[in-house]
Amino acid sequence: MSAGIRLEQASVVLTGAAGGIGAPTARLLAAAGARLLLVGRDAARLEALARELDPAARVEGDAGGAGGREGARVDWCAVDLTTPQGVEAVRMMALARRANVLINNAGIASFGRLTALGEAHVAQVIATNLLAPLLLTQALLPGLLERPQAAVLHVGSALGRLGLPGFSAYSAAKFGLLGFSEALRRELAGGPVRVQYLGPRVTETGFNAPEVLAYNQTTGAGSDTAQAVAEALVAQLRDGSAERFLGFPEKLAVRLNGLIPAAMDGAFKAHRLALPAP
Ligand SMILES: NC(=O)c1ccc[n+]([C@@H]2O[C@H](COP(=O)([O-])OP(=O)(O)OC[C@H]3O[C@@H](n4cnc5c(N)ncnc54)[C@H](OP(=O)(O)O)[C@@H]3O)[C@@H](O)[C@H]2O)c1
Repeated sequence: MSAGIRLEQASVVLTGAAGGIGAPTARLLAAAGARLLLVGRDAARLEALARELDPAARVEGDAGGAGGREGARVDWCAVDLTTPQGVEAVRMMALARRANVLINNAGIASFGRLTALGEAHVAQVIATNLLAPLLLTQALLPGLLERPQAAVLHVGSALGRLGLPGFSAYSAAKFGLLGFSEALRRELAGGPVRVQYLGPRVTETGFNAPEVLAYNQTTGAGSDTAQAVAEALVAQLRDGSAERFLGFPEKLAVRLNGLIPAAMDGAFKAHRLALPAP
């Protein structure tokens, strides 16, 4: 199998591109010379970022259409990835741009006791954080397999290997994404497509609601800047490594949890107590 991705020759599809981690990632990838398709729901934010990175980027309503203006290194696609139409629109634009990298970064937050989470919210968390990246990967894979060197990188979470009180639905999705990533990596071994999983710890973006910030403060969770996570993501694309978790002691906790999960159960009383009252 090939080594990591050569970014100067890459054509990247980045979901959640205008978000906290997405935007610095897009800037680093553009600076490295990659072509970019920025994906998210908020057209105005995507367009502003696209035009910051490439003044030739398509403007809404121009004749550029799928694939953008000829020569534009950056284009954008405003879609809801939880819909079949959204996935299909990205697939068409990715094919036109001969994409060889998919970064599944879009996601939504979820926090609270399971009994306090609405049914529709739980369904949306699984649809956005697990089903959408799975179906988008499935849709783009035939095109990726035609490239000499390709990668699918999932932005998971430390909570994709370590379940904490208050994150049952979120962890269900992020653990699922890790299982998907591992199985697909083994399925595609020996071919041109690398499958990678990045597990950030708490990251300083607008993602986390005030009650999560309070919980993190009470439990002493460490955090990273979005820029640091973006740099780790780009480094992982370059080195081709399969799985990476960020931060210490999170890395240690993730590793121990994989080896001796039941023995770890007693370590989270403070987290349980830090949950909002039922
Ligand atoms: N921040 C953290 O503490 C943290 C820690 C570990 C892992 N992560 C993971 O890192 C990733 C990025 O998080 P972030 O902190 O950058 O959050 P963010 O700023 O909220 O960005 C998330 C992005 O996902 C996009 N998105 C959400 N639902 C979508 C949908 N249905 N269709 C298309 N796009 C959708 C949003 O785009 P629009 O705004 O355009 O809708 C948004 O730009 C997520 O997968 C998250 O789970 C975050």
